[in-house]
Amino acid sequence: MIDRCFAISTASDRQAPNRDVVKPAISVVGLGYVGAVSMACLSHIGFRMVGVDIAQGKVDLINSGRSPIVEERVGELLEEGVKGGLIAATENLVAAVLQTDVTLISVGTPTADDGSCDLTFVRNASRAIGRAIAMKSSYHVVVLRCSVPPGTTLDVVVPEIEKASGKNLGPDFGVCFNPEFLREGVAVADFFAPPKTVVGASDERASSTVTEIYEAVDKKVIFTSIAAAEMIKYVDNVWHATKVAFGNEVGRICKQLDIDSHDVMDIFVRDTKLNLSPYYLKPGFAFGGSCLPKEVRAVGHLARELKVSVPLIDSLIASNRCQVDQAVKLLAPFAGKRIGFLGLTFKPGTDDLRESPTLDVMAVLLERGEAIQAYDPNMTFGLMLQSQIDYIRHAVPRQARLMDELEELTVADADTVVAESDVLVVSHATDLFCAALARRSPLTHVIDLARLNRGLASSHTYHGIAW
Ligand SMILES: NC(=O)c1ccc[n+]([C@@H]2O[C@H](COP(=O)([O-])OP(=O)(O)OC[C@H]3O[C@@H](n4cnc5c(N)ncnc54)[C@H](O)[C@@H]3O)[C@@H](O)[C@H]2O)c1
Repeated sequence: MIDRCFAISTASDRQAPNRDVVKPAISVVGLGYVGAVSMACLSHIGFRMVGVDIAQGKVDLINSGRSPIVEERVGELLEEGVKGGLIAATENLVAAVLQTDVTLISVGTPTADDGSCDLTFVRNASRAIGRAIAMKSSYHVVVLRCSVPPGTTLDVVVPEIEKASGKNLGPDFGVCFNPEFLREGVAVADFFAPPKTVVGASDERASSTVTEIYEAVDKKVIFTSIAAAEMIKYVDNVWHATKVAFGNEVGRICKQLDIDSHDVMDIFVRDTKLNLSPYYLKPGFAFGGSCLPKEVRAVGHLARELKVSVPLIDSLIASNRCQVDQAVKLLAPFAGKRIGFLGLTFKPGTDDLRESPTLDVMAVLLERGEAIQAYDPNMTFGLMLQSQIDYIRHAVPRQARLMDELEELTVADADTVVAESDVLVVSHATDLFCAALARRSPLTHVIDLARLNRGLASSHTYHGIAW
C-alpha cells in the first residue's frame, strides 16, 4: 500500500493564495464510527485530513475512498475527499501528527471488566501523539472526542503527552475536549446540523483552533470547562437511556391496561412547559408535596398488581431519599451547633407541608438531639395548619415527633433564625431569605438546598447540596 499520508502538506508549509483562508490540517486517530464521519465531513468543508488507524483494512478502505462503516453519505464524501486530494490515511500515527496542526482522538473507550471506562486506547494514542509532538517545532492542538470520565483529558491525556514529548501544555501544545453527539444512521446530517457543539479548552489558543474547525457548521459553540464538557456527554447519554427506559416502563403498564402507550406518550411529549423542558432538571433538593411521592408510590403499586416490572419507577423514592440523606450528611460536621431552617414547606409560595423533604431532615436532627429552629413565612399556626400537622403525624410516622414539637421550634421571623444559628439550612430561593442571609455573621455557615445565588459560593462557609 502506498502511504498517501506523506503526500499531505501542513498549514504552515502550504502556499495559500490568501493567508486568511488557510485552514488547519487535521489528523484523526481512530477511523471507526466517529473518526470516519469526521474524515468525510471535515474534508467536505475543505480541511486536509490525515486518518490514522491500527487496522490496516480501515486505512486501505479510506485511501480508496470507501467507507469502513455503514453510514449514509460517508462513502460518497470520502470518495470526494480522496479524489480532491484532501484525504489520506495511514497506520503511522507519528507521521500523521507531524503533518498536521490538530489531532482529533476518536479511538474506542469500551467497558472494562469492572464496568469502568477502559482508557487503554486513549493512553496508547496519547503516548504516540506525544512522541510526534517531541519532534515538532510548531504548536499542536490535541482534541479528545471519545466519551470518557471527567478528568481524562487533563489527568490522562495531558500527562501521557507531556511524558512522551518532554514538552508542556500551554506553550508547546493545547488540548480540548469536544464531545461527539452524532447519531449513527444520520451522522452526516447531524454533523452539518449538530444539536450542539461543546468545547472545553486548555487555553484560548486551543479553543480558537477548534472554533475555526466548527465555524462552517455551528457558529454558536458552547464553551465550558474541560471537565464539564466531558461530563455533558455522559449526562446526555444517561438521560437518553433514562427516557428510553421510562417510555418502555410506561409502555409495559399501558399494555397490561389495554391503553395505547403511544396515545399516552404523544400527549405527554406535547407538554413542553413541564414534561420536555428544563423544568425539574436542575439539581436541587428532593421532591415532595402532596402529589409526586404519592403518585410514584401508586404507579409502583399498580405495576406490581399488574405483574409488570418497573425498576426505574420503583427506584425513584429511594433516589429521592438519598437527596435527604445528602442534606443530613452536609450537616454532620455541625453536630452540637445551633441549626436554623429557612423554609419548611415542600416549595416556596405554598403552606403545604405534606411530604416536605425539609421536614425529613429536621426529623432526623431532632431524633439526634440537635438544637434546631425554623421559620417559614407561609406557615401561620392555627386551625388550617393544625389539620395538616395532625394528618402528617399519622401519615408519616418518622415525622410524628417533629409534628408534636413544630410550633415550639418555629420562630416569628427569618432574622431571628439567622441571628440565633451557627448553620442555616435554606430550602427556598426567595428574596426574603437572600436578604436575611446577607445579614448573617460571616462565621455562620449556609447549607443551600435551593441554589440561592452563585455569589455566595465563594465563601468557605457556603455548602451547596449538589454543586
Ligand atoms: N459510535 C458513536 O456513535 C459514538 C458517538 C459519540 C461518541 N462516541 C465515542 O467516540 C469514541 C469512538 O467511538 P467509535 O464508535 O468510533 O469507535 P470504533 O471502535 O468504531 O473505532 C475506534 C477505532 O480506533 C482505532 N484505534 C484504537 N487504538 C488506536 C490507536 N492507538 N491508533 C489508531 N487507531 C486506533 C480502532 O482500530 C478503531 O478503528 C468512543 O469513545 C465512543 O464512546 C461514539
